[in-house]
Amino acid sequence: VRRYKKMNIKWNADKYTQDFSFVHEYGNEVIGLINREEGASVLDLGCGNGALTKKLSELGFKASGLDASPELLQIARKNYPELTFYQGDATEFELPGKVDVIFSNAVLHWIAKDKQPDLLRCVYHALNENGQFVFEFGGSQNNALTHEGLRQAFAARGLEYKMPFYFPTIGEYASLMERAGFRVEYALLFDRPTELKGDNGLYDWIDLFIRTPFGGVDEGMRKEIIADAVERLRDKLFRDGKWFSDYVRIRGRAVATV
Ligand code: BEZ
Repeated sequence: VRRYKKMNIKWNADKYTQDFSFVHEYGNEVIGLINREEGASVLDLGCGNGALTKKLSELGFKASGLDASPELLQIARKNYPELTFYQGDATEFELPGKVDVIFSNAVLHWIAKDKQPDLLRCVYHALNENGQFVFEFGGSQNNALTHEGLRQAFAARGLEYKMPFYFPTIGEYASLMERAGFRVEYALLFDRPTELKGDNGLYDWIDLFIRTPFGGVDEGMRKEIIADAVERLRDKLFRDGKWFSDYVRIRGRAVATV
């Protein structure tokens, strides 16, 4: 595997594994989009802590994982020493051998729009003939309320909130995949409001996942901005004593035709 560039986040691996395990729990549904027999080789692209890589192997696939984060790969290798995990950048990787399926859950929104063609080219070249690309990530309008709350909290302090994620429509992403040589077989965009555990659920979610927009902001101000954003969002995202994330998912399956 070609070496990697740094990702735009340094993961708090323990927190991610303990408090946000719903990310890989939902991933089980996405695995259901793979329509290949047991024994097919599957790369888990952006495998993180390896929980879904393990799930894929339990289902009978020859599973391996690739991730850019050394912190998360360390956990994956410790938990699942029998599986192969590669360190690599999703927009520049080459595998030692081609695979039948590339699976990716909750990862692609971290890749900037202008890098998506590079990612799709790598995915296409890493697949065997008629190999499948099966994915789910944040779709158009994902966390729209949350990002608006943050934008307002930044603006109230004379700061600009720069959106750090890519959340495409089906039309946009299907076009990119087609341009990369894929035949898009299936795509879906849907709302998935998701409970964020604990009284500080939304604060903790923002604290863990929203990092780059706070570049150059000191720690005290960062906490103040998050707390302000949370209060701005309380009447929209706090219901019946629980915090919810306004997630929107895009998922699909595309085939690497010749
Ligand atoms: C998501 O899964 O939609 C997501 C998670 C963290 C940051 C941004 C988006």
